[in-house]
Amino acid sequence: MATTADYKIGPHTFPRGWFMVALSSEVTDQPQGVRYFGQDFALYRGKKTGKVVLLDAYCPHMGTHLAKNKTSYTARDGHVIDDDIQCPYHAWRFGPDGRCKHIPYYDGAIPKAASVKSWPVREHAGVVFVWHDPEGGEPDFDLPPLAEYGQPYWVPWTIDKLGVMASHPQEIIDNIADLPHLGPIHGSTVEYFENEFRGHKAIQRQAGGHRTLVAGPGDKLYTDTVYHGPGILVSHLTGLFETVLMITHTPVDDGVIEVWHGLLVKVPNAVPVEADLEAARGFNESSRLAFLQDFEVWGNKRPALNILQVPTDGPFHKARIWYKQFYHPRSEAKRLIAPVEGVHVVPGTPGWPLDRVS
Ligand code: FES
Ligand SMILES: [Fe+2]
Repeated sequence: MATTADYKIGPHTFPRGWFMVALSSEVTDQPQGVRYFGQDFALYRGKKTGKVVLLDAYCPHMGTHLAKNKTSYTARDGHVIDDDIQCPYHAWRFGPDGRCKHIPYYDGAIPKAASVKSWPVREHAGVVFVWHDPEGGEPDFDLPPLAEYGQPYWVPWTIDKLGVMASHPQEIIDNIADLPHLGPIHGSTVEYFENEFRGHKAIQRQAGGHRTLVAGPGDKLYTDTVYHGPGILVSHLTGLFETVLMITHTPVDDGVIEVWHGLLVKVPNAVPVEADLEAARGFNESSRLAFLQDFEVWGNKRPALNILQVPTDGPFHKARIWYKQFYHPRSEAKRLIAPVEGVHVVPGTPGWPLDRVS
């Protein structure tokens, strides 16, 4: 396992950006403890508004974990009241903004320090995302639109939880530029490949034959893949079906990540029938297995602190420069990525066909 400092990515240990922390369906009014960015959090859904709340885990009174308790009568009788959470130990009550608003055995002014940090969360397409920012700023880019989610003809995803892996996110990010792994790992016959780095987005456009994801020999699979910041990859795939793939990864500790996979599938019926759902499930499974081919490598490799790059590799070094912006103060981002912004084609492999440019 290697750390951010080992890869020399930047001064911040964890990157700035939107990150997945849970599936919407997992978040209820039963608080749960979660861990990301080397920190512990309490995660719950308010009873009054239904809004998701993510707070620093430890009570400022005496350090109790706000969410990790099942036996305290406070936790059993009403851990969450309205949108507030009560500490299991002495029942101090915190609002969704993290401020203590009630101490049951004290009538005086509530100390200013009686608060925990409340994190900006957004629920989007069945997923809970947090904005993580070492500088404590407002989001400076958006979540991916995922406009297909919930639309007629589109089967919504059942997100696969792929688990926690002792791998630095840098290793996963390298994949966006990784032209020569597509044949050996995925069985693709790549005909077109290009990368584009533009602000907070890293894009890969690729097309070619595929062993499993096209209707027959000679058919091409087009994949138009975008990192929306450092933690959310969305790919539009056009082959046997039209699909939208999302792969998210979130740092848990320095050099450890959690990973999810989901696929939206377009089917022939506006209100999907059982055959559509079954086809979508099958396609999701093919996509999940394709991603696990990468996963197996990442789970067993040594860290690539330096890449021994040859000229016909993908532009790994440029992708790594693009990624650095999220580990530096945002004021430095533009200057950092300026040398790599633009479209990059690998010698000997044509770029994206012009008629497919969106
Ligand atoms: S430790 Fe939380 S109320 Fe005392
Ligand atoms: Fe891959």
